[in-house]
Amino acid sequence: MKNEIKEITSEETLDIRNKVMWPNKSIDYVRISNDSEGRHFGLFINDKLISVISLFINDNSAQFRKFATLTNYQGNGYGSVLLNEIINIVERDKIDKLWCNARVDKSEFYLKFGLKFTDIQFQRGEINYVIMEKMLN
Ligand SMILES: CC(C)(COP(=O)(O)OP(=O)(O)OC[C@H]1O[C@@H](n2cnc3c(N)ncnc32)[C@H](O)[C@@H]1OP(=O)(O)O)[C@@H](O)C(=O)NCCC(=O)NCCS
Repeated sequence: MKNEIKEITSEETLDIRNKVMWPNKSIDYVRISNDSEGRHFGLFINDKLISVISLFINDNSAQFRKFATLTNYQGNGYGSVLLNEIINIVERDKIDKLWCNARVDKSEFYLKFGLKFTDIQFQRGEINYVIMEKMLN
């Protein structure tokens, strides 16, 4: 089995974003207005894209967004491999901080990667979020 992480286009992320995160919404709902300014990465197994993540860098701080693994492939370590690669990339690029709007039900997962809770929480739609961050370098 061949696992590979590659930089992809934002268009390539849309199907997984849609199916996994917002299955009841249209594909346009999962576009981000500044997708064209982001870098997008995908994990492929035998050339099939199964996990995606998008990275937006501003003022030496990097936000990851729309992190999703196809449901049938979750819980096998693929998301961890992809997130570790993102951490390596931002460390290599001398970015000071990595952060995300974490779905509260996923926050335990991010703690394993050294992200810490900030005290900023909010709700969007039905979903509760907390900002989590990791200082680098
Ligand atoms: C968050 C998400 C991208 C993680 O992707 P993933 O490929 O499932 O990630 P992993 O398999 O590396 O880790 C998932 C869990 O499986 C566990 N795991 C990892 N490898 C494992 C293995 N070989 N065997 C069993 N469990 C394993 C991890 O410890 C983790 O546990 P936790 O959720 O209790 O912390 C995925 O759950 C997802 O798409 N969720 C829906 C969308 C979403 O919520 N995105 C994040 C918004 S903040």
